[in-house]
Amino acid sequence: MKHKVDSRLTRNYGEKSSDDFRQVYREWADTYDHDLVHEFGYQAPQAAVACLRTHLTSLDSTILDMGCGTGLVGQLLHDAGYRTIDGLDLSPEMLAKANGRGVYRSLDEADLAQDLALEPVYDAIICVGVFSHQPSQPFDLAKLFAGLKPDGTLIATVNGKGWHEIGWDELLKKSAHRQGFHIEAISDIPYLSRQHISGKLLVLRP
Ligand SMILES: C[S@@+](CC[C@H](N)C(=O)[O-])C[C@H]1O[C@@H](n2cnc3c(N)ncnc32)[C@H](O)[C@@H]1O
Repeated sequence: MKHKVDSRLTRNYGEKSSDDFRQVYREWADTYDHDLVHEFGYQAPQAAVACLRTHLTSLDSTILDMGCGTGLVGQLLHDAGYRTIDGLDLSPEMLAKANGRGVYRSLDEADLAQDLALEPVYDAIICVGVFSHQPSQPFDLAKLFAGLKPDGTLIATVNGKGWHEIGWDELLKKSAHRQGFHIEAISDIPYLSRQHISGKLLVLRP
């Protein structure tokens, strides 16, 4: 059975520029948490953080939350006991919400579609809810490895609709081959359960 996806989600699908996303999230920052968590049944942060915890046993680990948004992921990491969490995002309005939680060491603007100035200081990078329908994203994702220590882990989610519609599987393999990273695991996760959209959870290594 086909379910109609809410227009607050579909406006992000199809090819979009960073300016398009900045505009969407400027307008969404105030109601994002309510819409995602309470209306759409957003479960990707829980799934990704549960996975990260199995890879990062030391609470002293340094973590980058890429596309941190309003800080749903940072909050879960903080609740789990991690204390060194940096956040990056495209949207100043979303970053302001994240800042209000008081769980991040630093928060800065950054655009994954542009050059990122990352130093290899993180034990893990987590990127939740950012990847969906952009064919450039499996290749942009590879830029995050610059921020990982040699034995670090990159954990990312992909919207399941985007996964199928743009052929993420093949694009990710191509990106891994080109950039020399390893795909350790790809699993199914609950994503936007009340919108009947599942997700993929990626565990990637340098
Ligand atoms: C669906 S929200 C997910 C936020 C948060 N990770 C969560 O799970 O609630 C997507 C976030 O990705 C950010 N984003 C989109 N494209 C980006 C890009 N090219 N670089 C950095 N952040 C981006 C948006 O500003 C937005 O905050």
